[in-house]
Amino acid sequence: MPHQPLNPALFSLDPEHLWLMHCSEGPMPRSALRACRAFLYKELQPWDLKWKEDFVGLPERCKAKAAGTLGASPGDISLTATTSSGLQVVAQGFPWRHGDEVLAPLGEFPSNAWPWLALRDRGVTFREVPLWEGHLAGSRALESAPPPADADPEARILAALRPETRLLTVSWVRFQDGLRLDLRRLAEGCRARGVPLVVDGIQGCGTHLPELEGVAAFATGGHKGLLSPQGLGFLWTDPAFRARLLPSGTWLSVEQGTDFSRPSTDFDRPFLEDGRRLEPGSPSLLLAATLEASLGELLAAGIPRIQAHVEHLQRALLRLLSHGPWASEAARLQALLEAGRLGPFLAFHQGERDLTALLQRGMRQGIYSSAREGYLRIAFHGWHAEGDLKRIAGWMNALT
Ligand SMILES: Cc1ncc(COP(=O)(O)O)c(C=O)c1O
Repeated sequence: MPHQPLNPALFSLDPEHLWLMHCSEGPMPRSALRACRAFLYKELQPWDLKWKEDFVGLPERCKAKAAGTLGASPGDISLTATTSSGLQVVAQGFPWRHGDEVLAPLGEFPSNAWPWLALRDRGVTFREVPLWEGHLAGSRALESAPPPADADPEARILAALRPETRLLTVSWVRFQDGLRLDLRRLAEGCRARGVPLVVDGIQGCGTHLPELEGVAAFATGGHKGLLSPQGLGFLWTDPAFRARLLPSGTWLSVEQGTDFSRPSTDFDRPFLEDGRRLEPGSPSLLLAATLEASLGELLAAGIPRIQAHVEHLQRALLRLLSHGPWASEAARLQALLEAGRLGPFLAFHQGERDLTALLQRGMRQGIYSSAREGYLRIAFHGWHAEGDLKRIAGWMNALT
């Protein structure tokens, strides 16, 4: 495989530090710092802030690039602070009836559970479905079996839909076991039953392109694979689904909200139909400048190229681990990878075994990885190189 789609020189990553944790926090490219700083300088002298270029233009440019990372259209993007806030807009705005149920895979990251659990008082229940034999979560998460090589989570989810299910919500890439769900298959099964599919997409964005055909809503924060700081992300919605949601009810979600030639106190105007309909008001322009620059680097590199690179590194690392103490996990992950079931990180199952010593020894060698619910997560992105793999395998093979 040729060199990395994202040149490491775009970042401030020194070679001593091998950052395998963008599944927690992605590094920001230097160009994003420059964009952020340039915007802040304008704030020192607000007469330098331009209505068209900054107040209107920055969110528009950011949304155009956000749409590019999803293969979507900019009018369907709403800027939101976080993944959670995107999911909340959907949860709070959906036309629920008493007795409705939200179905979700067992063990979602809490950002994709609490917005639905918060609907309890409106008579909406949240039901979880295990995705494979021996799958556990909650207080028994560490006793769970990992997803097997022949896992078919979509079949289990679709089989669990029942008449009271009004909405299905899933993580595209799961935060602990790293499984990437087949959105197209889920969307097809949902469409047949008239159930909207809502997706927490943060763990796959920036390295993989989602299939949005048939999906109702897709939310992400900007601070993982999208390589921006926390605090600004986006929500994509299908236009027909968006029309069913309550508008956010903010001054920028209405027609001519910023046309000051008309009295702003004239409330006789409709809500907008595009993504602005769901936005929370003025976005952080500082973060819009930053996120726009980060997204620009990803689009210039090409997300399909990043995905191919990540999968190449994953395959090569699994080969290096195929004869040592990680052999059985490498074989399991290899099969999932070849079946197109993995996102940007390899999640090595360790169950109840304490991973603290392993993580700490890694850090002493400058290797930064993370652990969640019994899995060691090794995340690759476009700047990682083949030269990193021996270092990772050496650390992992020596430590069990
Ligand atoms: C699957 C998933 N969703 C969402 C988040 C973060 O949510 P938010 O953007 O609301 O902070 C994480 C962070 O770890 C995650 O793994």
